[in-house]
Amino acid sequence: MDGNGRWAQARRLPRVAGHRAGAGAVRRCIQAAIGSGVEWLTLYAFSSENWRRPVQEVGELTGLLRHYLRHELAELHREGVCLRVIGERERFDAEMRAEFERAERLTAGNTRLKLMIALSYGGRSDILRASLRLAEAVRVGAVDPERLDEAGFARFLSTDGIPDPDLMVRTSGEFRLSNFLLWQSAYAELVFLDVLWPDFGATHFADALDRYARRDRRFGARPG
Ligand code: IPE
Ligand code: MG
Repeated sequence: MDGNGRWAQARRLPRVAGHRAGAGAVRRCIQAAIGSGVEWLTLYAFSSENWRRPVQEVGELTGLLRHYLRHELAELHREGVCLRVIGERERFDAEMRAEFERAERLTAGNTRLKLMIALSYGGRSDILRASLRLAEAVRVGAVDPERLDEAGFARFLSTDGIPDPDLMVRTSGEFRLSNFLLWQSAYAELVFLDVLWPDFGATHFADALDRYARRDRRFGARPG
């Protein structure tokens, strides 16, 4: 989800206005996912690197996030959304971590849409942490490194139990993954949309699905 700052700048508004408008796009995106039968959706809301932004903006972003979790949770639950946070959650304060846990606990049994929110998420950090946890599992004898395969490694990632993404969409016209789901996106179809995130809506979602549907996925196998 990229382009909140540019959306605000184009309107001569403070960046926080763009982030606020971005929350509306989150709602539209979730509705579009539910409406089109998508079962798994991950939103990259805050990266490990986003902590480097000015403290004021970090405060605004986490404040909006807290507000969103508090005020939208009941509605998400009613819609049948199962929420899960992936990322370095210990970098958030105790109050915020409690919000994550509350949201996950309340919606744990829902099955209509599995919604992952990537918060303080970084693909390299995810892989590094997985490696450290794997090393510990090997040390205590819980894992035999001789028998470890890719699926076995993936169980140590923060996305354990979540299927690899089929489609990855980036908004705002940038052509980068920006450290998102690096391991998991090995065979994801990439779609780059020239729309700023606050303007994202049902038609953009449909456009991304449409482009995906026209791709020929071979996973490295021989064509034909
Ligand atoms: C995305 O919009 C929001 C977050 C990264 C949290 P940006 O804030 O990156 O907006 P631009 O890239 O400056 O337009
Ligand atoms: Mg950006």
